[in-house]
Amino acid sequence: MLQFDVWSKSFSDLSVDCIAAGVFEDGKLGTEAAALDRASGGRLKGVIERGDFSGRTGETLLLPEAGVKSVRVLLVGLGPEAAYTRKGWRRACTAALTAAGRTRVKSVALAIERPAAKVLDDYYFGRCVAEITGNVLYRTNDLKTGKKPPLPAIERVVAGPVRTAGVAQAKLGLEHGRALVIATGVQRDLGNLPPNICTPTYLADFSKGLAKRHASVKVKVLDLAAIKREKMGCFLAVSQGSAEPPRFIILDYQGPKAARAAPIVLVGKGITFDTGGVSLKDPGAMDEMKFDMMGAASVIAAFSFLAEAKLPIRVVGLVPTCENMPDGLATRPGDVVISASGQSVEILNTDAEGRLILCDALHYARRFDPSIVVDMATLTGACVIALGAHHSGVMGNDDELVGELVAAGVRADDRAWQLPLTEEYAEQLKTNFADMANIGGREGGAITAAAFLGKYTQGMKWAHMDIAGTAYQGGPHKGATGRPMPLLTDFLVKRANAG
Ligand code: BES
Ligand code: MN
Ligand code: ZN
Repeated sequence: MLQFDVWSKSFSDLSVDCIAAGVFEDGKLGTEAAALDRASGGRLKGVIERGDFSGRTGETLLLPEAGVKSVRVLLVGLGPEAAYTRKGWRRACTAALTAAGRTRVKSVALAIERPAAKVLDDYYFGRCVAEITGNVLYRTNDLKTGKKPPLPAIERVVAGPVRTAGVAQAKLGLEHGRALVIATGVQRDLGNLPPNICTPTYLADFSKGLAKRHASVKVKVLDLAAIKREKMGCFLAVSQGSAEPPRFIILDYQGPKAARAAPIVLVGKGITFDTGGVSLKDPGAMDEMKFDMMGAASVIAAFSFLAEAKLPIRVVGLVPTCENMPDGLATRPGDVVISASGQSVEILNTDAEGRLILCDALHYARRFDPSIVVDMATLTGACVIALGAHHSGVMGNDDELVGELVAAGVRADDRAWQLPLTEEYAEQLKTNFADMANIGGREGGAITAAAFLGKYTQGMKWAHMDIAGTAYQGGPHKGATGRPMPLLTDFLVKRANAG
């Protein structure tokens, strides 16, 4: 397991396999690099003066015998000094760890110029170091049978400089960052697994395993008969066209010293494969619909984070999970079903299935008398059109809660943007044949989906995150991105601090 540490003294006193030191584009050494240069008798400056290193963003150069206490110095480009902020620092750390990971070094120090404290304080410094290391070291859990390239040998990462007064905060950040890395690995692995392996039953069994490993997490799983007893007519309508049985997973985290008070309820969409059902999707990129369970994966992974970080709060997770398949028993466009809340729904498009499984889960949340409810879902292609891959969409019936989520995204560099969920959008769901239809036309599709959910969350403080554009990517780097774990975990930490 990775070990993280902070360093408050001069890096020339530290003995590790490799020290990464930053150089700006004009050849100016960062503060720590300058100290190392003096300790090395000017060798770092010499390399730059000879023109072997220019300091471009992301550039790296390994000096195998740098003449300092640590064996190697890795020069890392920071780009132009005037433009250097948190993003540049993140890039430099990523480049340093990537380069170090290509060698066989086991211990690495990041002596890279830190951006101003107001841009990156000691807590987030620690948290980001762990997060970045985790991202660099993550390997997709593929099922290739050939010989795998060797994993980086990095075991220990030392980061600094941190003033003595900031060590405790930086260490707390590293600890939360370590928990984030574990949780993000869980979330990405679940997402990347093929849909014939990562079935609803798999997600339920995985959750049970999580509860076995952590005494603070309890799990209960409802099977088909229990879901029928709960009268989750919308959830059942989605699941009925599949040979895979549905599951409704209930996770419960009880943190240390957390009163058995009103919990936070997290709800995650767990469609392990979305064909669209009878309203079949176009075949292009349909394989990516294995990622239609990233909301569920995020909620399950959040419990791994909570248990590892031991946050003093109570959180309940609800994961409705099933496949959306077309067969002789599948739901037809025009079917009317009754949700657990008693409201009737005309299913005009079987591909708008996420809201159908979520509405029954959101109704189930009521029995916990939650302080807040947050659902996460790869809910609409419309959200991807609106915001692209850069922001998750956030909507809700409580602007303060929505604001908290947006703020967490800014702090964690995992941004979200609020879309306006005003009353008008719900009118688009009107139909002659039931209390509501499950679609509201093409216009404002991300918002009408949220408006549908809003009919099941009245009286609760609720927010919805549409992560369809952010949770995974297609193309040559196809795979789960790990988002929105940075946002979600930051949000939970803030909530724990506030309580
Ligand atoms: N899982 C999809 C949403 C989605 C689309 C996620 C593309 C990621 C990329 C969801 O179940 C869906 O199919 N939504 C439909 C809703 C429509 C029928 C109202 C959509 O977005 O097209
Ligand atoms: Mn769909
Ligand atoms: Zn879907």
